Amino acid sequence: MSGLVLIGTQWGDEGKGKVTNYLASRADMVVRFQGGANAGHTVAVDGRMVVFHLLPSGISEPGATCVIGPGVVLDPEELVAEIDRVSAQGISVGPNLLVDVGAHLVLPYHKAQEAAEEEARGADAIGTTHRGIGPAYSDQCSREGIRAGELATFGRFRELFERNAARRNRLLERLYGKPPLDVADALSRLERAAARIAPHLADTPPIVRGALHEGRRVLFEGAQGSLLDVAFGTYPFVTSSHTTAAGVPAGTGVPPSMIGEVIGVAKAYTTRVGAGPFPTEADPKAAGLIRERGAERGATTGRPRRCGWFDAVAVRYSVELSGIERLVLTKLDVLDAFDSIPVCVAYELDGGRTNRFPRSLDDLARARPIFEEAPGWRQSTAGARKPADLPAAARAYVKRVEALTGIPVAAASVGAASHAIVEFSKML
Ligand code: IMP
Repeated sequence: MSGLVLIGTQWGDEGKGKVTNYLASRADMVVRFQGGANAGHTVAVDGRMVVFHLLPSGISEPGATCVIGPGVVLDPEELVAEIDRVSAQGISVGPNLLVDVGAHLVLPYHKAQEAAEEEARGADAIGTTHRGIGPAYSDQCSREGIRAGELATFGRFRELFERNAARRNRLLERLYGKPPLDVADALSRLERAAARIAPHLADTPPIVRGALHEGRRVLFEGAQGSLLDVAFGTYPFVTSSHTTAAGVPAGTGVPPSMIGEVIGVAKAYTTRVGAGPFPTEADPKAAGLIRERGAERGATTGRPRRCGWFDAVAVRYSVELSGIERLVLTKLDVLDAFDSIPVCVAYELDGGRTNRFPRSLDDLARARPIFEEAPGWRQSTAGARKPADLPAAARAYVKRVEALTGIPVAAASVGAASHAIVEFSKML
C-alpha cells in the first residue's frame, strides 16, 4: 500500500512539518486530516523558514497535490492570509490545493467564544491557541456547524452565518458580558475569502482513495500530538480532534485498511505548550538550555514551550494507540550540549513502579519519572547525514530509544534544514 501516516507521539511540535516536507519530494499527495490553524509547522524552504498552519507542509513541492481533508476545521480568512503569505515567499498555491467541501469552518464567533470561555475558566484555563478549534468542533458535533462547501454559494452561507452569529452573540453578551460580533463586517471579510477559496473546493475522499488505488504515494500529515488527542490524551488539557492514526480514516474518508504504514515523530526530548501534567519537565536551568538550543517557542502563539526529557512511557503509549511501526527522532542535535541525558524509562506511582501511561489526570500528575542517564556526546551532530557520521554515544541514544519504545528509529533529524536528516531505513 502506498499510504504513509505521520503523527506526533508527544504533545505536538515534534517536527512533523519538517519530516513531511522532507518526504513530500517523494510524495504525490499530502493530506491534512485533523486540527486547523492551531498547528504551526515550521519548514525550511530554499533556506528560508516558512510556517504552515492550515496548508499541508507539502505545498512547497510543485509536484504534490495538497488536500485539506474533511476532518480539518478551516478558518477561511486564515487560509487566504496564509496563501498570500507563502505566495510572497515564492510558494505558489493553485490547483495543487484541494479543500474538502465537508471541512467544518472556523468562523469569527468561534474565536470570540473561545476567548470568553478561556477567560471564564480562570485558573483552570486549558491554554488553547485561541484559533477557535474547540468551538468549531463542538458545532460539528452539535450539528450547528457550517461546512466549507457552503462557501461556493455565498447567499446560503450568509443565511447560516447570520443565524449562528445571532445565537452566539446572545451567548457572548448575556453569559460572558462581552461585546457582540459585528456581523456585517465579518460577512464582508468572509465573502472576499469565500471567493478565493471556492476554486479549491472539491469532494476529496474519492480523489485520495483513487490516488491510493493507483499506487501513488500519499502522505497523511498529522497535527498536534497523540497526547493531545481528545479521547486518549491528557484530557481536558487536549485539543478537540483525534490526533492518533484513528483520525486518518475519520478525517479523510479513506478506510483504515488503506492508510498504510504509520510513522511516529518524537523529539529526542519532550516539550509541551499550555497547561497540564508533564512528568519529565526539566528543572529551569536545563529547560532553559533546551529551549534556547531548540528555539522552543510556539510557532502559532509565540509562547515559550515547557521543556523536559524523553519520556519513553508516554511515547510507548502513543506507539500502541496508533500501531506506530517506526519512529523519526527529531532535534537530536539539541542534545549535543549535555554531558549526560536523563531518559524516563518508567513512572513511580503511589510507591509502585509502572510502565503504563496513566489514563487518569490525577494519577499522571502524581507520577514521578524514573530516569536513567544516557551518556552525552558533547559534539556537534549538525553535519551528520548518515548513521556513521553520528558520534557513538548519539547512536547509542537512538538504540536506547528503540529498545524502550519497542520499534525501530527510521531517521533522526539534526537541524532545521530539510536535508538535515540521517536515515536509518528508507521511509517512503
Ligand atoms: P487548541 O487546539 O487551540 O484548542 O489548544 C488545546 C491545547 O492543545 C493547548 O494546550 C495547546 O497549547 C495545544 N496545542 C494545540 N495545537 C498545538 C500544536 O500544534 N502544537 C502544540 N500544542 C498545541
